[in-house]
This record gives sequence, C-alpha cells and structure tokens, in this order.
Amino acid sequence: MNEESIKQIAEVVARYGANQESLVEILSDLNAQLGYLTQETIVEVARRLNLPQSHVFSVATFYSMLNVGPTGKHVIKMCEDAPCHLRGGQEVWQALQDALGIKFGETTPDGQWTLQATSCLGLCAVGPVVVVDDEVIGHVTAERIPEILARYRDEPSGGAA
Ligand code: FES
Repeated sequence: MNEESIKQIAEVVARYGANQESLVEILSDLNAQLGYLTQETIVEVARRLNLPQSHVFSVATFYSMLNVGPTGKHVIKMCEDAPCHLRGGQEVWQALQDALGIKFGETTPDGQWTLQATSCLGLCAVGPVVVVDDEVIGHVTAERIPEILARYRDEPSGGAA
C-alpha cells in the first residue's frame, strides 16, 4: 500500500474517530473516494480501529452500497437477510459457493466471478433474491443456479434475457 493511500485512510479515520461505531461511515467515505475497498484498505482500517480483519471484511461485504474489489467480471450479490434465507436462501447460498468454488467475499481465480452478500434489497416478496451484475433475479432456487450461471458464461458481455 502506498503512502498516499495510507494518508488517505488516516485522514478518514481521524475525521470519524477510530472506534467501531464509526466503521460504516469510514468504509463509506473510503468507498466513495476510491471507488471500491481493496483487501489492503480493509486490513489498514482494521489495524487503525483495532478490529479483527474478518469483522471489517464482513461489514464491507454486508452493505450493498460498499464495493469490495477489485471484483471479477461478473458480480453476484445475494441477500442474506432472514426473509430470503427462510424461503430457501440458505440452499441457494450454498449452491452458489459450491458451483463457483469460492466463499462469499471472494473472487474466482480466473477473475470471472465475485460473490458478495448484501442486506435486504427491498424485494423480499420475490425472495430469495440474487443480483447478477445489474440484473435482479427473484424466486431463485438452488436448482436454478447452474442455469443462471450459464447465461452469463454464454454471454460474455454480461447481458441476459
Ligand atoms: S430479505 Fe431479501 S430482499 Fe428483503
């Protein structure tokens, strides 16, 4: 991490205060300034706030307005709130990880896919909900995951019907 980035993080932390209560504001500000949050940024914020890196990472991936990057070509966001999970989201969650061989918050080694968890998207009525790039897909089941992924594999531009 270069000196300029470290200085930038130090300024933002100083502005909001180096405590856990300021974590979301700090991450939001850095996300706005940098475009996305790198692993290095997360590690540095965790160090300055004296928090576990895993905690900062989980907060960064939980909020849909924050981008943890760099990301893969296709970004899959999945709502992890209870209404979606109670409707079968847990199975979808697992199926996505199994199909791509990564966990939430990770990117596949070939740079094609990133899995991110989000909070409620306001679409609970059609949950479980998955967002692939900018496409919202409702009523997702574990059985539909291969078909959904294939749409994007077959259309490298990211478009889908
Ligand atoms: S709980 Fe999943 S969209 Fe609201």
